[in-house]
Formats: sequence, C-alpha cells, structure tokens
Amino acid sequence: MCGIVAYVGEKKATPILIDGLKRLEYRGYDSAGIAVFGKEKIECEKKKGRIRVLEDSLSVDYPEGNAGIAHTRWATHGAPSDLNAHPHWDCNKKILIVHNGIIENYIDLRKKLKKAGHAFNTETDTEILAHLIEEHLKNEKSLFEAVRKALNEVHGTYGIAVMSEEHPGEIIGAKNGSPLIIGIGDDEHFIASDVSALLPYTRRVVYPRDGEIIRITKDAFEVRSIKSKEEATSKVEKVEWSSDMATKKGYPHFMLKEIFEQPLVIRNAIAGRIIPEEGLAHLGGLNYTVKELLQVDRIMICAMGTAYYAGLVGKYMIEELLGIPVDIENASEFRYKRIILGKNTMSFVISQSGETADTIAALREIKRKGHRVLGVSNVAGSTIARDTDGGIFVHAGPEIGVASTKAFVAQIAVLVLFAVKMGRHRDMTVEQGKEITEALVKIPAQIESILEKSDEIKKIAEKYKDVEDFLYMGRKFNFPIALEGALKLKEISYIHAEGYPAGEMKHGPIALIDKTFPALFVAPKDSVYDKTINNIQEIKAREGDVLAIGSESDTELPKMVEDFIAVPETIEVLEPLLTVIPLQLLSYHLAVLRECDVDKPRNLAKSVTVE
Ligand code: F6R
Repeated sequence: MCGIVAYVGEKKATPILIDGLKRLEYRGYDSAGIAVFGKEKIECEKKKGRIRVLEDSLSVDYPEGNAGIAHTRWATHGAPSDLNAHPHWDCNKKILIVHNGIIENYIDLRKKLKKAGHAFNTETDTEILAHLIEEHLKNEKSLFEAVRKALNEVHGTYGIAVMSEEHPGEIIGAKNGSPLIIGIGDDEHFIASDVSALLPYTRRVVYPRDGEIIRITKDAFEVRSIKSKEEATSKVEKVEWSSDMATKKGYPHFMLKEIFEQPLVIRNAIAGRIIPEEGLAHLGGLNYTVKELLQVDRIMICAMGTAYYAGLVGKYMIEELLGIPVDIENASEFRYKRIILGKNTMSFVISQSGETADTIAALREIKRKGHRVLGVSNVAGSTIARDTDGGIFVHAGPEIGVASTKAFVAQIAVLVLFAVKMGRHRDMTVEQGKEITEALVKIPAQIESILEKSDEIKKIAEKYKDVEDFLYMGRKFNFPIALEGALKLKEISYIHAEGYPAGEMKHGPIALIDKTFPALFVAPKDSVYDKTINNIQEIKAREGDVLAIGSESDTELPKMVEDFIAVPETIEVLEPLLTVIPLQLLSYHLAVLRECDVDKPRNLAKSVTVE
C-alpha cells in the first residue's frame, strides 16, 4: 500500500520517478505526487487520481533536476485529494517527505508541534513528520541526523523518503514495518517500495531492515540504526526478476497475463523439486531435519486473503495425506488472540508479497513465543522471506494484478510438495508419492486446456454480467475454491458474492436464492460429488440458476444446470489447481464486461502494508 520512489544521480529525475510510480501503481492509486530539485528550489506537484493525471499536470518547464522523490497513495488518514497527496512539507516548504505506513502517535506530536508554532495544511499523519524534521533541523546541520532524531519520537510504521532544499544531492530514507529497498546504479542511487520500480534501471539492491535509516547520494549510500546511529551491515543482492517480467506482454491486463502464466508458474514452482522414481519432493529451505519433521504433531498456517485460502487448501490436503491436524488462522485475528502452539507445532506464514502487515505481525508474535516460523513467499528479500527461519519460495515471478491469481496456484503447488515430502518421511508409500507427483506434473498441461476455454467462459460471463449477487459453493477441497472464486468476483467486478461449504447452504444462505440470485457450484467427480449434486437439485427446486464447474467426463451434471464449464480430471487433492482457473477467468471476463478497472479495483491495493 502506497508506493515510494526516490532518485539521486546524473540523469533527469522526473522521467525515472514517473516511470517508477507507474510500476508501483498497484500499491495504491488514489493520488500521486512528485518533488524534484529545480534550479533554485524544490518543485512539488501532486494530484488526486491516477499517475497519468499527475503526469499530464506536469508543466513543460517542470524541473529537470537530478534528484527527487515521488509517491502513489492508498489513503489511510485523510481522504484522497490534491492536498492530502504526498509529498508533504514543513512550514517553509523546504523539507519534503513521502511516506508509506501509519504514524500512531501523530495526534500527540501534532499538538506538540502546533504549540511550537507549526502550521498544518493537511489531515494526514505524514505531515507531522515534515514538521518534526524541521524542528530538529533548528539544532542540527545534518538532514540525516534531523530525520533520525525525529524518527526516535515516532511510533508506528513507516517507509519514508525525505529531501530538503538546504541539503541538495542527498535523500534520506527509513524503514520500520513498511517495505523499502535501496537500488544501486552507476553514479546513481534509488529508494523504492519494491523492486518492480527499479527493474529497468538496476537489479542490484540492498534490503534495509526495520529500524534502519538510509542516506543516498549520487556516489554512495549508507545504512544505520535509527536508534543507536550504529552502521548496519548491508549486503548488495542481485534481483532475479527481469524488467520484462513486470510488463503486460501484449495482454490487455496484468491479471489476464498472470492467469495465462499459470502453467509456467507451476512448472517453475515444482522444477527440480521432484524425485520421480522415489515419489519424493525435495525442499531445501525448510531447515528442519528429518528427525524434527517426524516430531511435528500439528501444523499452523497463518495468512490473509487469497493466501489464506491457499492455506485452507493446504489444510485439507495435509490432513488428508498426512493425518496431521492443521489449523488455518487469519493473521489479523491471530496476532491479537492468545496463541496456543505446542512444542511440536510447525508454523507457516503464507504471503505472495512477503510484506502483508498482519502476516508479518503474526510471524513476529510466533517468534516472540520462541517458535520457529516457515514462510511460503514469492518475493526474495521481502520481510517475510528474511524474517522466517526457513521456507519455500514459490517462484511465480512478479505479480502485478491487484487480484492474486498465479501466486495462489504456486502456493498450492508448493504445499503439495511439502505434503509429499513430509508424507514420505512418515507413512506415505512410494506408490502414493509417485501418484501425487505424477499427477502434479500433468497439471500445467491440464491448465493450458482450461485456458483454451477462455472465450467459452466469456460467453457465459455475458449471460451473468448484470447480476448483482452470486452464491459460490463447494465441498472438501473445493470449499476453499468457492471462497477464493467469490473473493475474485467481488474484488474486481464488484458483484456481491459469498462463498460457502455446500453443506452449509440449507443452514441459511439458500434463503437468498431466487431467479435473480444465481449459484455457482464447484462439483468435480470426487468423493463428495453426490452430496454436491443434492445441493444443486435443491437450488434448482427453488428456481435458482446454476453455473457448475465439473469434470470433463461428467455427462449428467451439464444436463442439470444452466451453464457448465468442464475441467480435466486429476486426483482429488489436486482438484483445486484446476477448478480455480475457470473461476479466475469468469471474474476477469465479468469485470471487463462491466467495464471495471481489472488491475486496479476500487479501494484496493496490492501488498497491504498497514493493518
Ligand atoms: C486477493 C488478494 C489479497 C491478498 C492478501 C494477502 O486477490 O490479492 O487477498 O491475497 O492481501 O497478500 P499477500 O499474499 O501478499 O500476503
């Protein structure tokens, strides 16, 4: 949430900053702003709306200086407006700041600063930081020191970039609970919320830790502790992603591109991790010895949103294959309740971005209690990737569409590998291990065959484009898919959709059903097929329209329902990897038909870095 980019170097800062903002736009898109050193002073421009509105508003004589900061906003304190957009400034408009996060003690600080004579222009928590730095600069020559001292008075989360007219050629950044990285170029340095902003310019990055402050100039960077000023160890790392991976590659939307990438994503997630002749999976990063794996008697998975639903699929799968109980916890709830973990509980956090605030807080809480935590993450260098004690990278490549798709299937694929690995150290036979891994290897081609039905699914979407509600139902492995399908639908097409276990239907939701309220069933031919068919009949008896996702070999279900989308058959535990695909395509086509902004749905942003 909120994207920050900053540049100091030899090139013109403005085009780099605007391009960086466009690459970060998925982090927030209600307003944007930029500040660049001009000949005599810093020029700042900010606008409510998308980055293109800001870009269009920049006059032809907007400064061509070599240093600047920029921001794309997802509003927390203060409604989206030109005024509340970042950068914010001090009383003299000489210190400018962009911020991602929430300053929790801003009311007290604001009172104190007002008493000292500072005048505020906006309703934001961020503005107090500019004034606080101004206050410290009264007794401090160094901008770095003034920012550091100001931050020592602040409680909350922040990723910031600060520049000052009196301190040209340097930008100060700092991080606490919000993502921030340093990019290292030739005679230039960058600060950004994530690597996507920097991919065309550099792939050499440093990942500062929480509680660290950064100074970048054209020639150098330094990282120190905010508290003690002590120099921090900072390793330069190479980003594996290429600039090309973060483009639409001819697709109209990132979401569609990412849906179509899924066969490749699964191939990458499992590449080199299966030992076929032994029906075994190899996961090097778990950092658990076989002895320790054998001691695990409970697994706890914690995540948010789509990652939570991937965890729920994991729960069904691991319990079925391993007979180990699995708790799945919503991180935002988990972090505030009493945490009961046994000494042999294995804990996982799942997060595509690796920066979700609630998931990070849950991870820290588990560690505080003295337990190890494993991560399932897509972003190397992210907080979750660094702060966990081991884990599994999903290797899905950059996910830019706000609605998560490819990360979901990659998360499930690696959980399958985990279940096979764990199982084979326990009582899973070679045959069963082989059966699962062989079926998993076939999944990418099976997904390709579902993707070929995109036009067919679009035709079905045309029939449903004006409905305002949908009930999504499934059982067992497909219950999480009903939840995920309903989430995809509501977040990008704004159709109200609820996901339920099909068996729950008669306990309330069926009251909603009438001619205008269709139901979607995920009903492949598996161990709960007959039960789901009963539920479908009950909806039909109440004149509800039914759209079903079912097996290719099913000749009966298509006759029962208004619309049917067939998926290839696989073993039951892997069904979610196939049944979710038509649901992603259905939401995509419905959103496009309803003229919604698929990649930037209203009120949402990718990577929820505030709680
Ligand atoms: C939904 C979606 C969100 C994320 C959730 C967790 O399409 O994208 O629900 O899944 O915000 O994000 P990560 O996985 O980055 O922790």
